[in-house]
Amino acid sequence: MCKTKSHWETVYQTKSPLTVSWYQKEPSVSLQLIHHTQTKHDAPIIDVGGGASVLIDYLSRDGHTNLAVLDIAPTALAYAQNRLGDEANNIEWFATDVTAFISPHPFSIWHDRAVFHFLTDKTDRQNYIEVMKHSLLPNGHIIIAAFSIGGPTKCSGLDIIQYDAKKIAAELGNGFKLVEQINEVHITPTAKEQLFTYFRFIKKS
Ligand SMILES: C[S@@+](CC[C@H](N)C(=O)[O-])C[C@H]1O[C@@H](n2cnc3c(N)ncnc32)[C@H](O)[C@@H]1O
Repeated sequence: MCKTKSHWETVYQTKSPLTVSWYQKEPSVSLQLIHHTQTKHDAPIIDVGGGASVLIDYLSRDGHTNLAVLDIAPTALAYAQNRLGDEANNIEWFATDVTAFISPHPFSIWHDRAVFHFLTDKTDRQNYIEVMKHSLLPNGHIIIAAFSIGGPTKCSGLDIIQYDAKKIAAELGNGFKLVEQINEVHITPTAKEQLFTYFRFIKKS
């Protein structure tokens, strides 16, 4: 098992998803940005590194019918599937490393909260961006949330890269246009503050 996968499997096998630092009861900024895309309810949406997040539950309840979750840790996906029960059968699940993902079809929205910022290796970031390009429809939306400049320097014991708009836009390259950003102070289950910035880009056609 690769180092990244074994790290995340250990996390989800030893901790409740309700107590991890990134846990959110309601992913309100993500939902707000997805709403801003004005994408139809049958448009395909993927939550990349979704883990055990409840974003998918909210989207499904809001009437979105074409949902997918990808994560490197099968245990995280199993947790979400058990929580969703029969509803899980209507969702696509991909237990894989995003940097090597081959999408079976393109998506209208690519959502990533706190995954891209773990890619401290340039080659991993380049692979991620290539995968994202191939997985998105023209004019598709990218929503990426990362720790802000001045926010935490580590997550889950791993180094991360902090981003502001200029830095993430430079990373993604000129195939994407930044249309919106929102800052959030996330309060962890142990009551610590973490500064996040959410960026919404559109893939240029
Ligand atoms: C900090 S958690 C965020 C989980 C979720 N997005 C949320 O906001 O609750 C990072 C997630 O990314 C997953 N992950 C980390 N590296 C990954 C990779 N290379 N490919 C796919 N998933 C990855 C982890 O298993 C974990 O579920």
